[in-house]
Amino acid sequence: MKKVSVSFLASKDEQRDILKINRSTADYVHVDVMDGKFVKKKHKPYKMLYKMGNFLNKRLDVHLMEKNPLKHINYFASLNTEYITIHVELDKVDKYIDLIKQYGIKCGLAINPDTDVSILLPYLSKIDMVLVMGVNPGLPGQEFIDDTIKKILKIKKIIVSKKVKVKISVDGGVDAEVAKRLDFVDIIVSGSYVTNSDDFSEAVENLRENASRNTKKAKE
Ligand code: DX5
Ligand code: ZN
Repeated sequence: MKKVSVSFLASKDEQRDILKINRSTADYVHVDVMDGKFVKKKHKPYKMLYKMGNFLNKRLDVHLMEKNPLKHINYFASLNTEYITIHVELDKVDKYIDLIKQYGIKCGLAINPDTDVSILLPYLSKIDMVLVMGVNPGLPGQEFIDDTIKKILKIKKIIVSKKVKVKISVDGGVDAEVAKRLDFVDIIVSGSYVTNSDDFSEAVENLRENASRNTKKAKE
């Protein structure tokens, strides 16, 4: 079954919305960390999440939009983290992948809309997930870039041909309509569509259902 990871970057009250994600049918809390260098804005929710401690019952899917992600790799390794994702556009990608794997945490590589998929090739045997950006990173509530669909297809083909076990996730601009086109996506990340809704579980299930439509049809 496809997983849904909810970002609270668009939230007006982050703690309240994290608790609402906790109580919903979402699979993960997607944590966006921004350094003000790799992307313009800053967002550093580690301390808040640390303080929430046992109130946080969903596993974290951490997305580091940072030029130097070292500190936050170490910090988030001490929380209930399933994935730590860094950007493939950085220098020393290998070093960060190794550190994440040393902690026994699954490693994701995020790829920006303007970056060619070939950049992923050297790392595919070492990572667990590719996070395909559907928008330029840095802000929630942007419109999904259509070309992302072609990119997902290309990445899926590479993963199949290389026989590697790498999941595909997509992040940015995903609402229920966009989800209908996300056939090959294993983990759907969504922010404002869910946190602006009245019923988080309903929004999460709309995403899951819509992204699974074609898989279901093929089985019938
Ligand atoms: C964008 C972030 C996303 C974003 C998702 O830079 O990485 O996680 O907050 O929010 P929506 O779904 O509103 O684009
Ligand atoms: Zn993100």
